[in-house]
Formats: sequence, C-alpha cells, structure tokens
Amino acid sequence: MTVLVAYASRRGSTRGVAERIAARLRDHGLDVHLDPLLGREEVGRFQAVVVGSPVYSGEWEREAVDFVRRNAPALAGHAVWTFSVGWLGHGKDGTPPDARRLDEIHRLVPAREHRFFLGALDAADLPLLQRLTFRMRGGRSGDSRDWPAIESWTDEIARQLTTSTSAR
Ligand SMILES: Cc1cc2nc3c(=O)[nH]c(=O)nc-3n(C[C@H](O)[C@H](O)[C@H](O)COP(=O)(O)O)c2cc1C
Repeated sequence: MTVLVAYASRRGSTRGVAERIAARLRDHGLDVHLDPLLGREEVGRFQAVVVGSPVYSGEWEREAVDFVRRNAPALAGHAVWTFSVGWLGHGKDGTPPDARRLDEIHRLVPAREHRFFLGALDAADLPLLQRLTFRMRGGRSGDSRDWPAIESWTDEIARQLTTSTSAR
C-alpha cells in the first residue's frame, strides 16, 4: 500500500506534522512518500493520500488548494485524508476556527476525515506588520503541536488502510 503525504508549510510547523504522520505510517508498514506540494508527483500511483496545509488569514495555502484542484480527477476514488494546522483564537464552541472554504476542497476531493491541529510560531520571527496582525488576532508564541493527537489520528488512518488491504 503506497501513501502520499503532501503538505504546504511556510515556516516548518506543518512540515513537522507531515513528517510525523509519514514516519508513523511507515511504522505501520506502509510505503510512504513525503511531498512538499511541489506538484511533480503522479498522485494516481498512490492508493491513499494525506494532504495538509497551514491556515494563514483564514485560508489554506494557495499551493495546497492548487494541488487539490489540479489532482481532483486523479484523486477521485482514492482514500484521502486532509488536515489543517493553525493557531488563532478559539471558536464559539471552544474549537479553533479552521480555514474558510474547506467545503470547496472537500467537494473536489471527498476526504474520509479532516482534522485541525494546533501549530507553532515564534512571533519574534515575523515582520512587524504580521507580528501586529498575529497579536491582534490572539496569536501566542510557542509550539502547541499535540503529538499524541497527531499520532493517534495517524494510527486510525493506518488501521483503515491496513484493514482494507487485508480484506482484499
Ligand atoms: C500572519 C499570520 C496569519 C495567520 N493566520 C491564521 C489564521 O487565520 N488561522 C489560524 O488558525 N492560524 C493562523 N496563523 C497561524 C499559523 O497557521 C500557524 O503558526 C502554523 O503553525 C504555521 O504553519 P507553518 O509553520 O507550516 O507555516 C497565522 C500566522 C501568521 C504569522
């Protein structure tokens, strides 16, 4: 079973999540290719795809959206999972707001499941304007990535893939 883990990442925290997902899937015996959404992959050669993007100003990164749009026909019928990484604030029900327009992405490529994970950021690394925007929107410096939650989601993906393989 070959799995593509494709991700966008401006500052590396989503890359870290994608790397952990890929490593964990390999631990389950899956053949995993990690791709920073450069778009050169033939997605059709993979049986399952995990796609992730950080959320910036309420949106998935353009290259992640483009990846989904471009590969939608090839991904039809594949097992697909998606995830967002972000940080700002908390929604009314206590959950962080995810990217807008994810419904468009999921219309193009119906995902078996989508998850939002908290990310990481050091505000001191940002240019002044971004730093101000980030603070105004309630962002805090630090690494909030929840590795046990990421790993248990990955274990569930692996369980579904290995169960469907052995059922064939
Ligand atoms: C200018 C700026 C805008 C951001 N906007 C959002 C946002 O709208 N929603 C959100 O959940 N996180 C937002 N974040 C937080 C990032 O998504 C988070 O830091 C993430 O871990 C970055 O991933 P990366 O390191 O892979 O680029 C923003 C961060 C910055 C610097």
